[in-house]
Amino acid sequence: MQDPRLKEFMKEFTLSDSQLKEVYNRFGNEIRKGLNKDTHAKADTKCFITYVQDLPNGDERGKFLALDLGGTNFRVLLVTLKGHHDATIVSNTYPIPQEILVGTGEQLFDHIAKCLDDFVKAQQVGESYLPLGFTFSFPCVQLGLKKSMLVRWTKGFQCSNTENEDVGRLLKEAIARRGNTEIEVLALLNDTTGTLMSCAHRNANCRIGLIVGTGCNACYVENVDCVDLLEPELKRTKKKVIINVEWGAFGDSGLLEFVRTDYDRIVDKMSPNIGQQLYEKMISGMYLGELVRLALHKATKENLMFLRSANKNKILEVLNKEVGCFKTEMLSRIEADTFPDFTNTKNILKELFGSEKVNIEDCQKLRFMCECVAQRAANLVAVGLAGLVNRINEPNVVIGVDGSVYKHHPKFDAYMRVTMRKFVTPGIKFDIMLSEDGSGRGAALVAAVASRQK
Ligand code: GLC
Repeated sequence: MQDPRLKEFMKEFTLSDSQLKEVYNRFGNEIRKGLNKDTHAKADTKCFITYVQDLPNGDERGKFLALDLGGTNFRVLLVTLKGHHDATIVSNTYPIPQEILVGTGEQLFDHIAKCLDDFVKAQQVGESYLPLGFTFSFPCVQLGLKKSMLVRWTKGFQCSNTENEDVGRLLKEAIARRGNTEIEVLALLNDTTGTLMSCAHRNANCRIGLIVGTGCNACYVENVDCVDLLEPELKRTKKKVIINVEWGAFGDSGLLEFVRTDYDRIVDKMSPNIGQQLYEKMISGMYLGELVRLALHKATKENLMFLRSANKNKILEVLNKEVGCFKTEMLSRIEADTFPDFTNTKNILKELFGSEKVNIEDCQKLRFMCECVAQRAANLVAVGLAGLVNRINEPNVVIGVDGSVYKHHPKFDAYMRVTMRKFVTPGIKFDIMLSEDGSGRGAALVAAVASRQK
């Protein structure tokens, strides 16, 4: 892409190494604040204790139910752990109607319990005792494996009467209302914890779980001595505990203002959780497409795009009015395109604007804009990850990853690795592995560990 004016226009999305270094330093500081009891309340990254203190050893066995709420879909799973690091999974996806997403907590949990009941009947497993792990991917203060108080909703959920409530209790009560007495809720966990557990099940060096999907967050294995708020008796028996960083909230106290753009501010203002999850809003799938839409609209208005298009007014109108029209999935398709034909990009432009003739130069420019937005997201994830890898400070650290952006974007992994190499302490080797159904297998593993302790 050769247009110097567009390059200049997109410059604010390009973070220099010194800006990234500053983000890295501020992030490390927030982690320390989150873990320390005197500064915890003021930290952006709350570093919640998960109460998961054992990684799987691969020998876990048994049949478990798992629920997965917090991404694009709600799922119910039946996981059979077979020992020898092996598991089989059967699952079903259930839509959550919009009116339930913004309805009452009771409606949401009744809906979940109904889907669970339908699934158990369809799988014909309802006769025997069924331990259940619930992957609930929102910020929660855990008071134990089975007790988890919702701090606030993220990612477009907004159910009333649920904040500060125990999600484990809400689920248990809804299951009891349906009369499924054979099901016991044994563990509540975040999707990052599920991802870490499921990857650790296959690779003993896994220490970090990362999600780059609808939302973005990470968890990691910390030494109990660094976790002020962990009960002393839990420090005596075990040396480690998984910490759910809730890093999406990094920046909520203003620490990222030096890199945020006006586009980020608009995205935030249009969201139901204004002023919250500011790091996440620069990275995750719920927001990347919108960032491109806003930048593309401005670039078109300023005559940097679609210069020769007969359709320019229509393009401006669509970009201005149709919030959400540019989907994050389009970034992935555009970056997967091959030169010089730009088949995906052309199709996307046709889908969006009904343009018949598409100019190759516009395709190149749009691709460049998508690259800038995705690269910034990957760079921000990379400095956060490097911060965790360096904290863990073991010779080999494996990171388990899940989420639609990481899985479907053809370059996200490569972008991340380049920047991580700049920030990870020399001498520490890191690797990134794709998680296989972390929310399901991971939930079963946490439940398995819990039932062992029981
Ligand atoms: C949001 C949630 C967090 C979750 C992440 C990824 O950031 O607050 O709990 O892990 O999305 O789904």
